[in-house]
Amino acid sequence: MKSSKTVSRSGRFASHPSANVALFTESISFDWRLWRHDIAGSIAHAMMLQHVGLLTRKECRDITNGLEGIARDIEAGKLQWKLELEDVHMNIEAELTRRVPAGAKLHTARSRNDQVALDMRMWLRDEILSLCGELRGLQRSLIELGGRNADVVIPGYTHLQRAQPVYFAHHLLAYAEMFDRDWERLHDCFARANVCPLGSGAIAGSTLPIDREFVAKQLGFVDAKGRPRVTQNSMDGVSDRDFVLEFAAAAALIAVHLSRLAEDVVLWASAEFHYIRIDDEYTTGSSLMPQKKNPDIAELARGKSGRVIGNLMALLTLLKGLPMTYNRDLQEDKERLFDTTDTVRATVNIVAAMLRHTAVNAGACARAAGDPALLATDLADHLVLKGMPFRKAHHVVGAVVLLAEQLGKPLDTLTLAELRSADKSFGQDALQVFDLKKSLAGRRLTGAPGTSEVRKQLAHWRKRLGR
Ligand code: ARG
Repeated sequence: MKSSKTVSRSGRFASHPSANVALFTESISFDWRLWRHDIAGSIAHAMMLQHVGLLTRKECRDITNGLEGIARDIEAGKLQWKLELEDVHMNIEAELTRRVPAGAKLHTARSRNDQVALDMRMWLRDEILSLCGELRGLQRSLIELGGRNADVVIPGYTHLQRAQPVYFAHHLLAYAEMFDRDWERLHDCFARANVCPLGSGAIAGSTLPIDREFVAKQLGFVDAKGRPRVTQNSMDGVSDRDFVLEFAAAAALIAVHLSRLAEDVVLWASAEFHYIRIDDEYTTGSSLMPQKKNPDIAELARGKSGRVIGNLMALLTLLKGLPMTYNRDLQEDKERLFDTTDTVRATVNIVAAMLRHTAVNAGACARAAGDPALLATDLADHLVLKGMPFRKAHHVVGAVVLLAEQLGKPLDTLTLAELRSADKSFGQDALQVFDLKKSLAGRRLTGAPGTSEVRKQLAHWRKRLGR
C-alpha cells in the first residue's frame, strides 16, 4: 500500500501529514479486517439517527444502500483501501460520502473512539463464537480417539516417571476437561464484550438526542431477556480494552493447554514410547535423514503458545499506565488480538484433525501398562485393608520393590516367602493384587480411571458433544 496525496483532512490543519507520518500512523493495513462489523455498526447507527429524527428516511436509505454497496465491493475485492485515509473507519466513511451526499451525516454523534470500540467488540464476539465451536470439535476428536481405543491402558505418569495404570481414554479426557474450562472462560469473556459502547462519543457522549439502547438492540448487545446492554460510563466506554485482554488471557490458556497436549503427542509418537502413530499426511519428513517422520504439527502447536502468551504480555503492557481515555496507543491492540485469534483457531483446528488421523499402538501400550511396578500402590492398599497403617504399608512395599530390584525380578514374580521376608502380614492373596484388569475395575471413585467410570465419562461426553 503506497501513500499518495491525503484526501481527507479536517479544517484544523493547514497542511497534510507527511508521507512517513501517514505510514507510521496508519492502521488500514491490518484493521481492514473490521470492515464487516464497521459497516454493520454504521447501518445500525444510521437507523438510529433516523429513528430520533437526525436523518430523513431518504438519507438513511441512501446511507444504508451505499454501505451495502461498499460491502459488496469489498467482498469482491473491488475496493481499494487508501493508506492516506488511515484506517478502516475513515476509508469506508470517505467512500460512502463519495457515493452518497448523505454520507456526510453518518458520523453525527459518533467518534472513531466509540466506533472502534464497537467494531472490536462485535468482531471479537464472532471470533469467540467460532472458537467455541472449534473447541467442541477438538473435544470431539479427543473423545473419538479415546472411544476407538476404549480398552487401551497406559501408564499414567508423574514427574514423567511411570506412576499408576490409566486408560488411554482417561488421559485424553483430562484434556477434554481443560478445553471445557476454556470454553466456559470464553463464554464469560463474551458476556463482558457484549456491551455496546456506541454513544460514548469521543469521551463525553453527545449533546444530540441519540438513542443508545436502540443501537444496542439492533446489534445484538442484549442480555438473556433481550434487554439492551450499553456501557455506563462514556470515558470507560472509549478507553476500555479489558475485553480484549480477557480474551487474550483465555486464549493464552488455551494455547498452554494445546502445548501440553502437543508435548504428550510428541512423546507418545517417539520410538521410546511408541504409543501412537500419526498418519503420514499429518507428519513431515527430514531433508537429510530418510527414516524420519516428525510430529511437526504437535511441535508447532507447542511452539505457537509462545506468541499467544507474548501477545497477552504485549496487551497488558499496552494498557498499563495509559491515562484516560482514548490514546492512540490503543491502535496497537489489533494486531495482537488478530494474531491471537488466528493462531489459536488454526492450532485448535489442526490439532483436532491430527488426532482424527492418529492410531494407537495397542501392543506398545499393553507392554508399558504391564509393568507390575505400576501396581505397587495397590499392594500397599491391600495391606491397609488388612489393618496396616498406610505409612507402614508404604514402607513395607518400598522394601519389597527394593528386594525385587536386587533379585532382578519383576515385582509380580516374587514368591510368597520373598514377600514375607519384608513383612509377615503378606498372605497368599497378596499376589492376586497384580491383576491389571481387576485393579482398574476397582477404581470406582468419581473421576477415577476405573473401567466403568471411564466408560461412563466417554458416554457422557459423547452425549454432551452431540455424537
Ligand atoms: N485506528 C484507530 C484505532 O485503531 C481508530 C481510532 C482513532 N481515533 C482517534 N482519535 N485518532 O485506535
